[in-house]
Amino acid sequence: MSQRTFSIIKPDAVRKGYTAAILAEIEKAGFKIVSIKRMSISKAQAEGFYYVHAERGFFGELTDFMSSGPIFPMVLEKDNAIADFRTLMGATNPANAAEGTLRKLFASSIGENAVHGSDAEETAAFEIGYFFAGIEVK
Ligand code: TYD
Repeated sequence: MSQRTFSIIKPDAVRKGYTAAILAEIEKAGFKIVSIKRMSISKAQAEGFYYVHAERGFFGELTDFMSSGPIFPMVLEKDNAIADFRTLMGATNPANAAEGTLRKLFASSIGENAVHGSDAEETAAFEIGYFFAGIEVK
């Protein structure tokens, strides 16, 4: 069944000029790009997005990184989008990511790992709503 997920092209990948290459892989994998925009977020906005990780040791570094430069948040759609995008994205640590995955192709470290993808329906709904108004994701 058609499903939506939320993704971000993170600041490391945007800085390196990988945006178009990542979007090409996403489309090649069968995802429809429902909505996308370029923006920068503040440290506080990054903290709000990653609130579930607030107690983790990497939270400060993660939110500094996510607010360090432009990002491309986007909404993607396909059958089984959430799980399939997690597969396309690859392991959190690019050293463990499978061949052909976005993180294998474009990420350099566990902290700067090129892309985000929602991990469940509830998180996808929260994350889409965090970055997009309803009128942008019709
Ligand atoms: P997480 O939700 O565990 O991974 P994923 O992005 O694969 O769903 O973690 C969120 C982000 O936090 C992750 O993409 C990068 C960062 N992070 C670290 O910097 N160090 C770590 O040890 C972990 C687990 C995550």
